[in-house]
Amino acid sequence: MESLELNNIYHMDCIEGMKNIPEDSIDIVITDPPFAIDFKAKRSNYNRTATRVIEGYNEIPKDNYHDFTIKWMTEVYRVLRDSGSMYVFSGWNNLKDILIAIDDLGFITVNHIIWKYQFGVVTKRRFITSHYHCLYVCKDDAKRRFFPYARFQKDATDGNGGSLHYKDKEDVWVIKREYWTGQQKTPTKLPAELIKKILLYSTQEGDVVLDPFLGSGQVAVISKLMNRRYIGFEIVKEYYEFAKKRLEENLYTIKDNQQRITSNIPLNLFEKKQDEF
Ligand SMILES: C[S@@+](CC[C@H](N)C(=O)[O-])C[C@H]1O[C@@H](n2cnc3c(N)ncnc32)[C@H](O)[C@@H]1O
Repeated sequence: MESLELNNIYHMDCIEGMKNIPEDSIDIVITDPPFAIDFKAKRSNYNRTATRVIEGYNEIPKDNYHDFTIKWMTEVYRVLRDSGSMYVFSGWNNLKDILIAIDDLGFITVNHIIWKYQFGVVTKRRFITSHYHCLYVCKDDAKRRFFPYARFQKDATDGNGGSLHYKDKEDVWVIKREYWTGQQKTPTKLPAELIKKILLYSTQEGDVVLDPFLGSGQVAVISKLMNRRYIGFEIVKEYYEFAKKRLEENLYTIKDNQQRITSNIPLNLFEKKQDEF
């Protein structure tokens, strides 16, 4: 492939795909790589209406996870602008490899955020996992952009004197997972609220957002809704096609009668704009 276009996604291995992105061209990477757990996206593994879960999912064997992480993060480091940032999600089981790669490649850790979600899997012999780690990192801390009042004014209070912007900027984020009852879905997806929060604090309209591991395409879909430019990769054809359909047809969720995006963000943000690097 010669050149990639912005506001487009690609069905390919992201390590190969990112080699076609010029260096210093990406403002933010928001990504949720495969977790190196023995996870099979089989419809029958889901305690839901199984037929709506799209099968596939490319998992990485545990022994290869370190090398795999170094490879994709090396490309991210190359394409990220000095003023840019990366938010990478990780479960606790493979966190060590993510932290080592961040350090070895020269990223600077800005925050270690905990995303607390509802309804972990119930367990009998250990505590219930109900959080993910999110490493917020950058290449140059002096050049890194952050918009502290993007969500709450400096003096906004909760009515009891508590500062809203302080609360919003604590590093434990309690955000619900989305349940797409009755809709087609991929096995894992980030909630829109989580992506929206990251985009508001770390980007402005027109910025370029990269997700090397698109899955359902959530990062690209929310970026499009918020008037950011996007690019991304997904190796499983069915997931790529699902994400592509959501983006091209401006659908948030897809069910038999094709529900349109329900969002209070104006739909005219979806005007098609193809940019080349
Ligand atoms: C945890 S999921 C991402 C979920 C996504 N954030 C969402 O909200 O839907 C990881 C995805 O990476 C894909 N994947 C695994 N290896 C890949 C590779 N080398 N290149 C591109 N995609 C890959 C998997 O198929 C899976 O869909």
